Amino acid sequence: MNAVGQDMVRRDGPAKVTGTATYAYEAEVDNAAYCHLILSTIARGQVTDVDVSAALALPGVLTVLTPGNVEKLAPTDDAELAVLQDGEVAYRGQIVGAVVAETSEIARHAAELVHFTYHVDEHDSIFTTDRDDLYRPKAINPGLEPDTSIGNVGEAVRSAHLTVAETYSTPMVHHSPMEPHATTALWQDDSLVLWESTQSVHSVRTDIAGLFSLDAEAVRVICPYVGGGFGAKGSPHGNVVIAVMAARALPGRPIRLALTRQQMFAIVGYRTPTIQETTVAADRDGRFTALAMAAYGQTSRIKEFVEQTAAPTRMMYAAPNRATSHRIAALDVAVPTYMRAPGECPGMFGPEVAVDELADALGIDPIELRVRNEPEVDPETGKPFSSRNLIACLREGAERFGWADRVAGARDGDWLIGTGVAASVFPAFTLRTTANIRFDHNRYTVELGAADLGTGAWTVLTQIAADALGVPVEQVDVRIGDSAYPFASVAGGSSGTATWGSAILTAADTFRDKYGDDPADGDEAENTFIGTGFEGGPYATYAFGAQFAEVRVHADTGEIRVPRLLGVFAAGRIINPRTARSQFVGGMTMGLSMALHEHSVLDPRFGHVINHDLAEYHIASCSDATDVAAHWIEEDDPHVNRLGAKGIGEIGIVGTAAAIVNAAHHATGIRVRHLPLTLDKLLAGLP
Ligand code: MOS
Repeated sequence: MNAVGQDMVRRDGPAKVTGTATYAYEAEVDNAAYCHLILSTIARGQVTDVDVSAALALPGVLTVLTPGNVEKLAPTDDAELAVLQDGEVAYRGQIVGAVVAETSEIARHAAELVHFTYHVDEHDSIFTTDRDDLYRPKAINPGLEPDTSIGNVGEAVRSAHLTVAETYSTPMVHHSPMEPHATTALWQDDSLVLWESTQSVHSVRTDIAGLFSLDAEAVRVICPYVGGGFGAKGSPHGNVVIAVMAARALPGRPIRLALTRQQMFAIVGYRTPTIQETTVAADRDGRFTALAMAAYGQTSRIKEFVEQTAAPTRMMYAAPNRATSHRIAALDVAVPTYMRAPGECPGMFGPEVAVDELADALGIDPIELRVRNEPEVDPETGKPFSSRNLIACLREGAERFGWADRVAGARDGDWLIGTGVAASVFPAFTLRTTANIRFDHNRYTVELGAADLGTGAWTVLTQIAADALGVPVEQVDVRIGDSAYPFASVAGGSSGTATWGSAILTAADTFRDKYGDDPADGDEAENTFIGTGFEGGPYATYAFGAQFAEVRVHADTGEIRVPRLLGVFAAGRIINPRTARSQFVGGMTMGLSMALHEHSVLDPRFGHVINHDLAEYHIASCSDATDVAAHWIEEDDPHVNRLGAKGIGEIGIVGTAAAIVNAAHHATGIRVRHLPLTLDKLLAGLP
């Protein structure tokens, strides 16, 4: 029986529920010292003086790192990593120092005693679309053209039967994994061991080796378990560099560094706020004649990060006239980064609400409107889709959700009831990864430097390996989360399972070619899977989905509840229904959270996020997510990769917020175009 497709329980489950799974901060080391970061209290300027005397006088303090006294790093174009190299401050919350002490409490206390003097410059943290310094970046993530144009959108709008041209926005939001960013670092005998909470042990190794001018072999990064990443741990941030500096300042002494929750809102990235000027024009039958998005985002003055907000507009629906653009404001703010479904998650909000608005204006069912605008091929590249089952998702979702029963103006006592739908999409691609397979004592050991963020990689890679080797899962040990294993790509872009699984297939081919089905102890083979890269191959490769929401709004208080969310996805072959469902439901729940709650409020007077803790930054809880159901259709995609698997980690969040906003409109008649959907945006308009 094939292991792939089975409901195998998590291999790491027992270790996690019994508390024996060790996370980065808990790495077993002797005589650890503790490091606490100090963050700038100004948004722009320079550190002109640091008085460390009171901190150093505190018993138990070992050292204080400041801009004046740390080692020079190798030149890097990633200014986020060039910590303490000079006294420049480019955003409030930037790392300006760190204390190392015998306990975490002493370190934290001493951090308060370090006195900084600043030269303060005027800062500017206000993100708007009428700034005169907005610019067109050379490229948007992941290396795409910033602007595209086909036909003539202006002309099409002038001759359209109906046009929706509205501005939508999504706010700054933070990843907030349960496990904060954390490191245990040990510098001993000219080599460095890092236990680091990361989505990519190999990128941490590469970046750290480069910054400290070390051979990659002298750096080992270990990370068997991660308590959530969502992109914030997809690339290293300044905290790990500080941990290494501290370890090198105290050779032989392991250093533990964990961020506080408040620090998590300052230095490890966030989803940029987006403003989306969206245009959808249609003829009398609802066929789109033009589709356009002018997208705006912010980045930090010291590092460019360009969210690909308009990317999904380029491929989602057919229309002869199309245009997308991206403009960026470089502000005195922290550096944004990837966050679950970068590009697609914010970028499908505006368009999927606009399509709903158009459906409403045309009097066409929003599912039917989407069906009418299915493209034959990728509308901008002309590539055929390797598989595209959006319509099947919409149809099956409608059936399961009871879409046909929706009635406008439904009411249950004081509650106004509505339903809404939106589409989801996320690209499917693979990256470069090497896997090693060894046979010993009738067991196969498969090693690669992959990461399990809590997603199920330990489990699904075992299933893939067992089938590839033609043995039961009990005979396979997959080992991941260590840079000592062969190079593996980041757990990001929903590319992990397809990439690492393909690498295991490739290595298993090599193993069987060499040794047949009856290997001897010590037989070993290794091979590298090249992957498609972000550009993909000759096909347009995407997962699709349909999101359905029921929303109830209290007629007097405006309280908003989402009693039901239902998603149907077409994401290629599902390796493990149990872990897959968890990914889809997790994404949808995060989408619900984005729709109703999440909003990092940046106070432009100070340049920092004021609701920087989980008391004031609200995240959906169990009582918000009462009924979240994920389904998928059987999809056989022979083109996407040998496994036939598309990513599933991110698509669940895409479209959720639009479905909820559309349902709220159906319930109340009020169209909210700016997330989050909070009751103050409904109250004035309620009947
Ligand atoms: Mo994910 S945002 O691709 O790490």
